[in-house]
Amino acid sequence: MTKTDDLILVLDAGTTSTRAMVFDRAGRQRALAQRALTQFYPQPGWVEHDAQEIWDATLACAREVLGQISEQGGGPVTCLGITNQRETVVAWDRASGVPLARALVWQDRRSAQTCAALREAGHEPAVQAATGLLLDPYFSATKMRWLIGQVPEVRAAAETGRLALGTVESWLAFKLTGGAHVSDAANASRTSLLPLSGATWDEGLCDLFGVPLAALPQVVDNAGAIGMTLPEWFGNAIPITGMVGDQQSATLGQACLSPGETKATYGTGAFVLANMGETVPRSDNRLLGTVLCQIAGRRTYALEGSVFVAGSLIQWLRDALGLIASAQETEALARSVPDSGGLVIVPALSGLGAPHWRPEARGAITGASFATTKAHVVRAALEAMALQTHDLAEAFARDGARWTALRIDGGMSANDWIAQDLADMLALPVERPDFVETTALGAAMLAGLGAGLFDSLAEAAAAMRGAVRRFEPALAGKARAARLGLWAAALAKV
Ligand code: G3P
Repeated sequence: MTKTDDLILVLDAGTTSTRAMVFDRAGRQRALAQRALTQFYPQPGWVEHDAQEIWDATLACAREVLGQISEQGGGPVTCLGITNQRETVVAWDRASGVPLARALVWQDRRSAQTCAALREAGHEPAVQAATGLLLDPYFSATKMRWLIGQVPEVRAAAETGRLALGTVESWLAFKLTGGAHVSDAANASRTSLLPLSGATWDEGLCDLFGVPLAALPQVVDNAGAIGMTLPEWFGNAIPITGMVGDQQSATLGQACLSPGETKATYGTGAFVLANMGETVPRSDNRLLGTVLCQIAGRRTYALEGSVFVAGSLIQWLRDALGLIASAQETEALARSVPDSGGLVIVPALSGLGAPHWRPEARGAITGASFATTKAHVVRAALEAMALQTHDLAEAFARDGARWTALRIDGGMSANDWIAQDLADMLALPVERPDFVETTALGAAMLAGLGAGLFDSLAEAAAAMRGAVRRFEPALAGKARAARLGLWAAALAKV
């Protein structure tokens, strides 16, 4: 079963944009389409998406890439993989397939008080032991609760059994198949409702968070026969054979298939995942235990550190402050000064994630003087990436998962200055694949596995992952320590 012309369609529904790509079984990207997604910020700390727009954009991108493939004389595609921004909650009417409210995005902090109340009532240790997650508005369950409690249409649908709740992959699978309500184990492990060692949702957790079990999807493997697309979408039915949250997807796309192998993806946020094998991970340092993937019912786990602001800081410099015209300018600006001139940016624009978990924290810029220029601000913004990653490295090491190298990917990792700064501040080799869109690649690997194009993820990775460039640490210890000192002082102020 090793046809060379097999093509894999991947739908990557991210936070700021939705994309579709087609890969061949050698991992070559044969087609790409992308649509930006509207971000709604109705109040400070609130972040919403229009689920209908996510679906419309995804469908349009998929049709566009399939058009590109037929223009190339290729196709039809063999199978489809879905990957997505995780934790974001969609509520829809399962009869009409219409969203009942705006989607609450993973960055949304509106359920912070609910989380604080649950923590004060002493629930965090049990929730963490069962799910690997902490009590933070980042995760889906308290967002689901908020929708049921605050949106009359959602509550009415729950009362009449018409409510479907899910994260973005569930929403897309429902639309693509015309009614299947499924979630893969990796995405499901981000809701706070799935025990790491349980096959499906836990009733006690559903009760604790006030989420009706009946509204939740069926938990399925990350690879296999997940569903068929309706013929009306693409002219012919395509089997959905892979589904996975984007950070787990990137971990697989980076071939972190053995325990200890670790990747960091620099997208909207920055997410570090270390493969922990088949043992349920436990963190004493406020990292997260999560399902990396489930294949034929067997789970592999990961330890995760989630940083909420990475690329979105550069977007903020561009869109809110107007300091730069494009993200591409940042590398040259950072190189134009020898250092940040003592300026430090703590990018807590939507609270602080791992290992601090302070939803109430807000961003800070310290050390400014009349000598501070735009280049210093940009350099400090880029430096924040390695500094945040450094804090995660320490937490992973304390949890017994010390990194020996870090595999990086995502849009920002294409910036050579950032890649070198990471190597310098972590004092570790940093590896970057030439093709940095490993999120889509991981979903393609899973879909290929699920469709029988490969016999294992290792075989898929060997076939699809391309060349890698290595950045070696080169910064003197004293300079590194000085920067870490300034960072620690700035962090203490937020
Ligand atoms: O947990 C949130 C994460 O899945 C979002 O990823 O790539 O959209 O920043 P990204």
